[in-house]
Amino acid sequence: MNTDQYLTFALGKGRLAEKTLQLLEKIGITCEEMHDKDSRKLIFVNEAFKTRFFLSKGPDVPTYVEYGAADIGVVGEDTILEENRRVYEVLDLGFGNCRMCVCGPESARELLLHHERIRVASKYPNIAKDYFYNKKHQTVDIIKLNGSVELGPLVELSDVIVDIVETGSTLKENGLQVLEEICPLSARLIVNQVSMQMKQERIKKLLADLRGALAEN
Ligand code: PRP
Repeated sequence: MNTDQYLTFALGKGRLAEKTLQLLEKIGITCEEMHDKDSRKLIFVNEAFKTRFFLSKGPDVPTYVEYGAADIGVVGEDTILEENRRVYEVLDLGFGNCRMCVCGPESARELLLHHERIRVASKYPNIAKDYFYNKKHQTVDIIKLNGSVELGPLVELSDVIVDIVETGSTLKENGLQVLEEICPLSARLIVNQVSMQMKQERIKKLLADLRGALAEN
């Protein structure tokens, strides 16, 4: 297969991928095979539209796009900030809205106010580091976790966490609060820098169609 002819999309597995497929369907780009939840297939090709899709772990999406293994990626702004890859971020897709926050028990509020040297657990060590060191000028110890970060303060691994808050129910069910808000987040479309030149016409049309579909929402 000459992959130059195809427009290749890398989608982060899960909710964002489903919403992305719904949006692409609105502009006439479909990929029926991808809706099969039981499938273990990794790459899906639509010959009629000359498009290829693959699903990967969210944090790997900017990597595939930077290296040109995918022309286009859809991923949360959190991942883009954390991974800091050389890609063009071209479109806010308007879904996957949530916030990056510092969270913890109410008792940790004092520690933040007084710039104490605290422990911060996060799946996003770069975002946490940037926030505490560059924005708050507070020295902290950052502990990288890979999920269920809310456990950090509950088992006294850390004083606070830096994590995504969407509905707030995970925090609530675990007796934690939002203590500080770092930034709002949403799903973004990213493009490989070479593809932006070499596949300019197709990508421009895709972006125009997507903007049109988003405006109708
Ligand atoms: C994310 C995030 C929070 C939760 C927030 O975790 O890390 O734990 O969702 O959502 P809420 O505000 O609606 O409760 P995810 O479900 O991705 O799993 P993980 O904890 O294993 O990373």
